[in-house]
Amino acid sequence: MHIVHIAVEMAPIAKVGGLGDVVTSLSRAVQDLGHNVEVILPKHDCLNLSNVKNLHIHQSFSWGGSEIKVWRGLVEDLCVYFLEPQNGMFGVGCVYGRNDDRRFGFFCHSALEFLLQSGSSPNIIHCHDWSSAPAAWLFKENYAQSSLANARVVFTIHNLEFGAHHIGKAMKYCDKATTVSNTYSREVSGHGAIAPHLGKFYGILNGIDQDIWDPYSDGFIPVHYTPETVIEGKSAAKKALQQKLGLQQNDVPIVGIITRLTAQKGIHLIKHAMKRTLERNGQVVLLGSAPDPRIQGDFANLANTLQGENHGRVKLCLTYDEPLSHLIYAGSDFILVPSIFEPCGLTQLVAMRYGAIPIVRKTGGLYDTVFDVDNDKDRARARGLEPNGFSFDGADNNGVDYALNRQALSHRD
Ligand code: ADP
Ligand code: GLC
Repeated sequence: MHIVHIAVEMAPIAKVGGLGDVVTSLSRAVQDLGHNVEVILPKHDCLNLSNVKNLHIHQSFSWGGSEIKVWRGLVEDLCVYFLEPQNGMFGVGCVYGRNDDRRFGFFCHSALEFLLQSGSSPNIIHCHDWSSAPAAWLFKENYAQSSLANARVVFTIHNLEFGAHHIGKAMKYCDKATTVSNTYSREVSGHGAIAPHLGKFYGILNGIDQDIWDPYSDGFIPVHYTPETVIEGKSAAKKALQQKLGLQQNDVPIVGIITRLTAQKGIHLIKHAMKRTLERNGQVVLLGSAPDPRIQGDFANLANTLQGENHGRVKLCLTYDEPLSHLIYAGSDFILVPSIFEPCGLTQLVAMRYGAIPIVRKTGGLYDTVFDVDNDKDRARARGLEPNGFSFDGADNNGVDYALNRQALSHRD
């Protein structure tokens, strides 16, 4: 089959969060099954072009009162087309934050026009979240009678928090809709954007790309490791992490947190867990950035306080840093994900791949992927799995404490 993804994020060249990871990993997984997979992206200003191979101008076409240059290149072995309208529409700034509705609407329409004018005949056009949702309805309204008519539209909801109006409209027009875990599909089934379309709505759990997230070949960690050499590999990574961040070089448990700092991610629980871990003599590393400057400022104050009071035992890195994230996954004993809601969540999956034990709140994809060592043995075994982490209910400090207290005991055993 010929499958074309229309998306605004793609790891590692334009990644804001998990959407970017999944556009790449899903495309690679489907390509590995023998399908012809292509991705269409805006040529954002902030693209990390060092990760694009063979980038060249492929063609140009006119649409919407502008000439649109189409660049073609390879990203992680995937064929990617970058659209660059000469009206400068995608020219300034980064993935999100500037006339996004208008920009992404224009992008989606020009992506479809590119497919039409280049004589492409995909079997599936796959759109993601509110940002490429317009492709679903623009396709049905404008291209269903064209040479693209054989295509079917798949729409994946990665997060219903943003752009519910666009999502509702895409749900109506797409042929099939998916979201990124079974539990999240149930959690949102009553939402006004989803409820009328349950007959074509499926929960399909995300995965991570095991070649991209691989402690055996990861270029950002000091010693490569496999399950057989995990103790040595993680111990070297812990030392490197402690040294890099100015933490004391002790073999105490490190709790790592790698996250967008937004309400979704359970900010009050993150703060509580950091304090609690420090009280129990563990170390804490947080890597996070907040789109909201007030939250960013709040964490900057917290960093000063906590780092001042617990010198050499806690470090808050309030930025986006892909290489550091790899070292934290490898060097941490635990990765905390206390989300209030989480459609899937990838950090707990990467944690497991790197031998860090996830501590999560039971919601969405966290519930579907993390099985508590004490409470979920049967649920895990029913799926042919072993318990693999700590989890808690509720959204108050007691839940976090319940997980952290058992985590501390488990380290002592
Ligand atoms: P979401 O997409 O809701 O942010 P996910 O768990 O699906 O959450 O995906 C988050 C992805 O972004 C993971 O690959 C994680 O490692 C990465 N990530 C999040 N915050 C940062 C950061 N500050 N620096 C580097 N990587 C980050
Ligand atoms: C969204 C969700 C996250 C999910 C990711 C990839 O950003 O918040 O839970 O893992 O998309 O599907």
